[in-house]
Amino acid sequence: MVKILVTGADGFIGSHLCESLVKKGFCVRALSQYNSFNFWGHLEKSEFLKDIKLISGDLRDSFFCAKLVKDIDVVFHLGALIAIPYSYIAPQSYVDTNIQGTLNMLEAAKNEGVSKFIHTSTSEVYGSAIYTPIDEKHPLQPQSPYSASKISADMMALSYYNSFDLPVIVARPFNAYGPRQSARAIIPSIITQILSGQKEIKLGDLSPKRDLNFVLDTCEGFISLLNLNNFGEVFNIASGIEYSMQEVLDKILKLTNKEVKIITDKQRLRPKNSEVTRLLGDSSKLKAKTSWSSKISIDEGLALTISYIEKNLSEYKSGIYNV
Ligand SMILES: NC(=O)c1ccc[n+]([C@@H]2O[C@H](COP(=O)([O-])OP(=O)(O)OC[C@H]3O[C@@H](n4cnc5c(N)ncnc54)[C@H](O)[C@@H]3O)[C@@H](O)[C@H]2O)c1
Repeated sequence: MVKILVTGADGFIGSHLCESLVKKGFCVRALSQYNSFNFWGHLEKSEFLKDIKLISGDLRDSFFCAKLVKDIDVVFHLGALIAIPYSYIAPQSYVDTNIQGTLNMLEAAKNEGVSKFIHTSTSEVYGSAIYTPIDEKHPLQPQSPYSASKISADMMALSYYNSFDLPVIVARPFNAYGPRQSARAIIPSIITQILSGQKEIKLGDLSPKRDLNFVLDTCEGFISLLNLNNFGEVFNIASGIEYSMQEVLDKILKLTNKEVKIITDKQRLRPKNSEVTRLLGDSSKLKAKTSWSSKISIDEGLALTISYIEKNLSEYKSGIYNV
């Protein structure tokens, strides 16, 4: 049986990816970030927890990473710090986790001789679209320390293919949303404020446009890469449809049947040159080589997200700005 390691397995996308892999019959080892509460993030309540080999540890520790990768066939490396606002105030930790952490995993995978290393990039590396739809040849523009750290990690991963023949594929997902996403992201932020009964909700700029994928579609995109041997290459995982955040807000208000007043909260506005105004992806490269495409419509995906948050509202801090 193929043995797969998922880093960032305690997180939003990683936890869904672990579950999808278990359902498909893979043997899954999952990294949850070590903490003194022995808290396993979103895997804590997973019905598949008994089928997953969970390990707590830290990507920043090269000794730990070397042990983590022992006897593994395929690595899905998702573990990262991902909040853009927090990267303004703690950029060093993004270098330590996203760049050094990725280097530690690449070195461990090289020494272990894994058969595939799927590294997770992000559409944020493209910055505001210079042309659309954005294909893999679009220039990279580091508009935040987060984006800069992911560009560096992507380049380190590709360098391990060029220098050491490590079988690296770079997955570049556009924005994912769905159950379990944290309230620092705009969709859960809107939904939690509305569902907690607030009549005035605080948001940042609603004009940016994003290419949104329901999280299970994103996971299927990752899994489709298992069939490819296009090492040293990058693959976008995008829906190919864009919505402004205002359009997303309007859809959520319609689905929840609520009316609210919008207050622009200055602390949620990003510095002008840092805000990525538009991301619309082109996944034709992935689609030409696999049968993957986004299946879940935005209305269906938002309804599933609202229903999840309704059931788990007490776990969200809807009254504060979650960075
Ligand atoms: N959410 C999106 O829309 C999106 C879009 C494109 C790319 N991505 C990428 O997908 C990956 C997963 O993102 P997500 O949205 O699930 O974020 P997330 O924050 O929910 O998950 C990331 C996980 O990494 C873990 N982690 C952080 N530092 C660690 C460390 N030092 N050691 C071990 N684990 C550590 C955290 O515990 C966290 O659960 C990231 O690489 C991110 O850059 C996300």
